Amino acid sequence: MASAPPPDHAPGVKRLVVLVSGTGSNLQALLDTIEEQGPERYGARVVAVGADREGITGLERARAAGIPTFVCRVKDHPDRAAWDLALAGATAAHAPDLVVSAGFMKIVGKEFLDRFGGRFVNTHPALLPSFPGAHGVRDALAYGAKVTGCTVHFVDYGVDTGPIIAQGVVEIREDDSPEGEAALHARIKDVERALLVEVVGRLARHGYRIEGRKVLVP
Ligand code: GAR
Repeated sequence: MASAPPPDHAPGVKRLVVLVSGTGSNLQALLDTIEEQGPERYGARVVAVGADREGITGLERARAAGIPTFVCRVKDHPDRAAWDLALAGATAAHAPDLVVSAGFMKIVGKEFLDRFGGRFVNTHPALLPSFPGAHGVRDALAYGAKVTGCTVHFVDYGVDTGPIIAQGVVEIREDDSPEGEAALHARIKDVERALLVEVVGRLARHGYRIEGRKVLVP
């Protein structure tokens, strides 16, 4: 059972739990915007950051901002289902309105999705449904695509298959070599950070409906 929001929770300001596995630059973009605009104007605030591993910059960023963190490692649990249950419990303890997967490199399971389905947002570094999975940038480069980008979508029971909220396009240049994955990913992330911040704010402020594959934000 999710705990009640703390007393300082302003009405209308949505509670975000952000899940990270790495650098956390998307998390930082959310934190910076909420700091600049204020949670009331932005429509949300980050109440906790969760990770599947210790020692990552994403956690450092959260701690530097004074945000509670939790770490839920697969290897600390007897199996994947137990990990999934623990992750769902640790997330629910912060009573989120929305959960944001911002570079969280684990596929969550049924328990997590039963609890947070329809309010679990992921950002992926490719134009879905092309190039799902853990290597979206590399796969688009290797395929010889001319454009790629990023997709912000709700998570469903498949891998990167949920309803799309918004996408941003990034050109793949003639001089993007197969070894140039990092440079292309950096250009994608420039677009991605702005898109994620914009989308999460819009969902928080306006609410939304999911009708089949369509996400409708009034
Ligand atoms: C982002 O580009 C995100 O789309 C990607 O990891 C990066 C995280 O960057 N996620 C995936 O590839 C998930 N399949 P960040 O840690 O700097 O926010």
